[in-house]
Amino acid sequence: MKKNIYNMAEKLSVSNGSKAEKYQTLLPQIKSLIAGEDDLIANLANVSAALKETFGFFWAGFYLVKGGELVLGPFQGLVACTRIKKGRGVCGASWERAETLVVPDVDAFPGHIACSSLSRSEIVVPLLRADGEVWGVLDIDSESLNTFDETDARFLEELCSWF
Ligand code: SME
Repeated sequence: MKKNIYNMAEKLSVSNGSKAEKYQTLLPQIKSLIAGEDDLIANLANVSAALKETFGFFWAGFYLVKGGELVLGPFQGLVACTRIKKGRGVCGASWERAETLVVPDVDAFPGHIACSSLSRSEIVVPLLRADGEVWGVLDIDSESLNTFDETDARFLEELCSWF
């Protein structure tokens, strides 16, 4: 029985303090949530929902490497581009470089893919295998400029290391 997981899934309880405090209270709850479930898609879906619910992000979700491209995975937000090639846009660049990219103004990022004209800033964190190979990315978009910083990068990288 996974009774505790159902209870956990009913409601997140997150600090209404600083961004770091929000992450500090959210991450352990996400960890418990995914610890009781071994289905990857179910867990990525809940992570997308938890991030959007907590921070009110415009779009939060995953692209997964399939057949040499990034293919849209679980997300919360508006309909999005389904396939992204290596090196294309922020997601494709994060995949190619195997590193987190914080983009304060998407219009200043060469080759940014505008799935929505409302997206103004974003962060993309790669999902890394033990050998350093990228198998997907976490992509979060905001309707405001300068939404993401080192704090987001640090906590989101920790979260992504659990997969
Ligand atoms: N902005 C991304 C594309 C994906 S969507 O915004 C959901 C990029 O340039 O990689």
